[in-house]
Amino acid sequence: MALKCSSRSRLSSFMVMDVMQKAAQIEQLNHDVMHLEVGQPSTGAPAAACRAIVDALDDPSAHGYTLALGIDPLRKGIARHYERAYGLQVSPENVIVTVGSSLGFVMAFLTCFENGDRIAMTNPGYSAYRNLMLSVGLEVVDLPAGAAQNWVPRVEDLAAMDPKPEGLILASPSNPTGVVLSADELAAIARWCHDNDVRLISDEIYHGISFDVDCATALGSSSSAIIVNSFSKYFSMTGHRVGWMIVPDDLIDPMERLAQNAVISVPTLSQIAATAAITDDHALNELEGYVARYRTNRDVLLDGLPASFLGNVAPAQGAFYIYADTSGISANSIELADRLLKEAHVATTPGADFDPVDGHLALRLSFAGSTDDMKEAARRITAWVRDYTRRA
Ligand SMILES: Cc1ncc(COP(=O)(O)O)c(C=O)c1O
Repeated sequence: MALKCSSRSRLSSFMVMDVMQKAAQIEQLNHDVMHLEVGQPSTGAPAAACRAIVDALDDPSAHGYTLALGIDPLRKGIARHYERAYGLQVSPENVIVTVGSSLGFVMAFLTCFENGDRIAMTNPGYSAYRNLMLSVGLEVVDLPAGAAQNWVPRVEDLAAMDPKPEGLILASPSNPTGVVLSADELAAIARWCHDNDVRLISDEIYHGISFDVDCATALGSSSSAIIVNSFSKYFSMTGHRVGWMIVPDDLIDPMERLAQNAVISVPTLSQIAATAAITDDHALNELEGYVARYRTNRDVLLDGLPASFLGNVAPAQGAFYIYADTSGISANSIELADRLLKEAHVATTPGADFDPVDGHLALRLSFAGSTDDMKEAARRITAWVRDYTRRA
């Protein structure tokens, strides 16, 4: 008997996870692999967050459920963060704590859109948006944001979409390109969406990690946008699985009902840790130190990698990624990433994970790891490219 498996279960895999699995196999053979594939800080949670967990361990309530939208101190701490970081007033009522930003996307898709609605996303863009949207019955429309657009999505391309999409999701700083939209560019997109009844989901998960440019929030220019953020990147707490959304008033109740039914609540100890991370001044100093390391790491790669490997590289102004145009070396990024892993023991992510059109010509390098690892990765890639070019 063949039991049915839904068509929506036929999701594409998240290629970076496949690379991680292959890297683990190579490590089992006692080779040390430089991990430039995964977008995850090599550091742990700030000290204040760790202490908060230890202090809470003896309290039985720290081991139980919380209210579906999150614990009060965390919602208040996040609201205050908007005042401190952007000078914007946010009510804790509009803050919704989620299981990573990943659950936030699913909640936003399910709450705001009907089956078959068309949602635009930047190309290149974060592949999980595409895969999740397809799995909940949405149609994905690409908004170009590649080299031909100077890596910046344009309002005129949005306005030219026919039929008009019901939503737009984009990230600034961007994964995979590291491009940060200027306040004007983001405001123009946010206002266009608001004026045209297009729901904007602004993924601001890499805010705090930018080099010589400020990260603007869409919250300042649209009252209908959903702002998504997380403790995973700037706060260095990927495994705690805490994210948040700032939502307009009319979405609070539907989101609450969905959260109650889908997850009941976000892990309690993680919410306690996140509260400390976002409210403790020492934690913020610690995190700024990590951002300084990312900047050094970026420079190590940009200065140390051969020009043929960096091609027409997107400006790495934020997040912790370099999106390298590797077309001078290979026209198949999946094969190139595979060879780099097997022959140089450097794990990278094929551009095909982020761009179904031109991604075969690019690799994404994450510089979230240690500076020593970046130096070693640059040395290995340079030697590999030299050998490869000699043999070609
Ligand atoms: C652009 C972007 N958004 C969202 C996420 C999901 O992060 P999390 O669910 O850990 O908050 C990631 C993870 O890499 C990302 O790169």
